[in-house]
Amino acid sequence: MPIIRIPGMIDPHTHLRDLDWAHKATFQSETSAAIAGGYTAVFDMPNTAPSTTSATLLEEKLARIDQAAHCDWGLYFGASQADNTGEYEDIAARVCGLKIYNNATTGDLLISSRAMRERHYRAWKTNRLIAVHAEGETIINILDLVRKYRQPTHFLHISSQREINLLAAAKNEGLPVSIGVCPHHLFLSEDDLPSLGGFGLMKPELKTKNDQRALWRAIRQDVVDIIESDHAPHTLAEKQSESPAYGVPGVETTLPLMMQAVKDGRLPLQRACDMLSLNVQRAWRIKPFPKTYTIVDTDASFIIERQNLHSQCGWSPFEGARVCGRVREVWIRGHKVYDGERVLSRPGFGHNLFGLAA
Ligand code: NCD
Ligand code: ZN
Ligand code: ZN
Repeated sequence: MPIIRIPGMIDPHTHLRDLDWAHKATFQSETSAAIAGGYTAVFDMPNTAPSTTSATLLEEKLARIDQAAHCDWGLYFGASQADNTGEYEDIAARVCGLKIYNNATTGDLLISSRAMRERHYRAWKTNRLIAVHAEGETIINILDLVRKYRQPTHFLHISSQREINLLAAAKNEGLPVSIGVCPHHLFLSEDDLPSLGGFGLMKPELKTKNDQRALWRAIRQDVVDIIESDHAPHTLAEKQSESPAYGVPGVETTLPLMMQAVKDGRLPLQRACDMLSLNVQRAWRIKPFPKTYTIVDTDASFIIERQNLHSQCGWSPFEGARVCGRVREVWIRGHKVYDGERVLSRPGFGHNLFGLAA
């Protein structure tokens, strides 16, 4: 059964950059890379330059990505320290969700006070979900807010045994939470840091083998909902500098890494596909467009090499890894957008999956 068809693959956690960070990546380059990686849609984070924290800045970003995207997309709005909750009513219908940064990472959107986090939870009254960067014990604080406000919340890039245990308990309690895990935390650990150098630096940081085992166990036990790449391109020079930027690219390596894991017997094929498509659609309450799917040859094995990647950054922390699962075709809304070698859609072909009617 080598050829499979995955309907509506979506990566809900990408940093497409562009705007003042076009030297790192652009909407064109990264949506093209996403298609080559098998995705039909990607959701872009608000920690751009400038960050997406006002209706005006959102408007500018919407206009730009609408002209540029090769695949379908969604944009997050960013909660800001300077209290931008007054903008929420105006922007909610056009975004895929609200992003709250609760621990330090790339960009300047950190919300470190509990009172301010609560202000944002209280003000976000739409049914679009809240996505949180919350590491370690910060998760407890966010869960208190989910318990109080009952706002569906997606916990991004969960990376440790402690975090997974906290969230498994929250699910048992019936809280409306979903859990995302990234390939770099599944396939790399702190043991790889010496050989990876700057390429092994991202937030949350690489953890122990024990943490990694806990993530795989949680996948097998259906606790993890979504595999997200946290595609965060930085230039080679930025990653090889004295103080490398945090973040690694991932839209082109996520599917083949997961297909390799299926081949190695680490999880069932259907489970892998669901975490890349159906579970994202469910968490964000969207239906995939008809005739929107990815054809994958799960038997085709290859080695990840930088010269074969489409992302503008031109490197991967997984270079040299043997994986399987070649993307043969990608179709979006009845149009063939990838033929296994070339991206066929034009810039601007992509639709906003949120607020089409607006
Ligand atoms: C991300 C980035 O570079 O924008 N970096 C990262 O290390 N993951 C930000 C983030 O997801 O926290
Ligand atoms: Zn993050
Ligand atoms: Zn991220």
